[in-house]
Amino acid sequence: MLDLSALPPGFIWGSATAAYQIEGAVAEDGRKPSIWDTFSHTPGAVDNGDTGDVACDHYHRFAEDVALMRRLNLDAYRFSVAWPRVLPDGVGAVNQAGLDFYDRLVDELLAAGVRPFATLYHWDLPQALQDAGGWPDRATAEAFADYAAVVAGRLGDRVADWNTVNEPLCVSWIGHLEGRMAPGERDLTRAVHTSHHVLLGHGLVNQAIRASARLAPSVGIVLNLSPIEPGSDRPEDVAAAVRADGHTNRWWLDPVFGRGYPADMIEVYGVEPPIREGDLEVIATPTEFLGINYYFRQIVVDDPAGGAPFARQIPVPGAVETAMPWEVHAKGLEDILVSVAETYRPASILVTENGSAWYDTVEPSGEIQDKERTDYLEQHLDAVRAAVLRGAPVDGYFAWSLLDNFEWAYGYDKRFGLVRVDYDTQERTIKASGHRYADLITTHKRSRQSVI
Ligand code: FCB
Repeated sequence: MLDLSALPPGFIWGSATAAYQIEGAVAEDGRKPSIWDTFSHTPGAVDNGDTGDVACDHYHRFAEDVALMRRLNLDAYRFSVAWPRVLPDGVGAVNQAGLDFYDRLVDELLAAGVRPFATLYHWDLPQALQDAGGWPDRATAEAFADYAAVVAGRLGDRVADWNTVNEPLCVSWIGHLEGRMAPGERDLTRAVHTSHHVLLGHGLVNQAIRASARLAPSVGIVLNLSPIEPGSDRPEDVAAAVRADGHTNRWWLDPVFGRGYPADMIEVYGVEPPIREGDLEVIATPTEFLGINYYFRQIVVDDPAGGAPFARQIPVPGAVETAMPWEVHAKGLEDILVSVAETYRPASILVTENGSAWYDTVEPSGEIQDKERTDYLEQHLDAVRAAVLRGAPVDGYFAWSLLDNFEWAYGYDKRFGLVRVDYDTQERTIKASGHRYADLITTHKRSRQSVI
């Protein structure tokens, strides 16, 4: 029996999405293309040639989606703001019609008693900024702060909770080194430069929100982290695990927590991040919380012929795998929460994403009995509970995702939703996992009432 009463009384129960994955309406009300519009329309870039052109049509159905959040008993909803709706050219003229959408969404959330958590960058860089140099160029970090000031100026009287950047690892390593995500580049130097400008952007945005929002803001970056284990006791594999940990975890955590970039990784990359005076202080500007996204651990072996970090993830024999296929390993969530808490001492941690994709089937009755997703959810919530008992200051959990949606380079086949979306009709159906989540939230709320 899952007993979550050890979670703090004010624990925040949420779910998360991102703009390009759900909104659709890519050419409406003045929005211009982002790098994800360009990438998804590039032949061969996304499975099945899927694009976010329509996605879940959330842009038009947001009120229905907020009503679903109520049915799930959510305290909070983490969404992202699409930069190309607000500043279609990335800089310059503000598109009020684009901002109006987030105004309506925030009002609808507040009316439903759902606390809005706004992410300012979940990967949809305006294409115009890409054309001007993109993240490898320092000007993009500065443009990011200007855009954040506009959004915080408009929404900051009602939104207090802000995520700066979602997963700088994906932006930098997957987008600019491995080429599997927009903008699809494969260049180590540009990837390292990107990583510095994304982190600098985080710091500048952190400061810009504080200067522009009316409500006292709570700000954090969102990092996707993995515990790393060597595939054997061989010294080469043990060293590979240290490099993989540097690449996945320390490269982001160290500068955010004021330690600068890990020297061993600068050596591994053979590329210096383009740091100017004061940058490291900006990046380390204090935040109220750290967001952690967790999906899998990594077991790695030495791979001298592969690219940086010269470590290759190997499959785990006998592992239960999701449709991605990612190993199901809930203990990894407990481990990463505890190790980050012990090493970096953040004041507060939010699990800003965690969830799983499965090949759901719809019963003749219309129900979706997604037992694997339900089990995954329960196991990972139990891991959060275990981490809290070991002293990690975890104050909230956001299930990925509210809805089935456009899963980036994997398209629509990979379904992560607590709510099914029928892409032909746009009909939404709460899955068994969603009902279970709603029940767990209610049970925890009852237990906290009895504590108060
Ligand atoms: C994370 C992303 C999120 C979603 C999940 C499955 O890396 O932040 O948008 O795609 O993975």
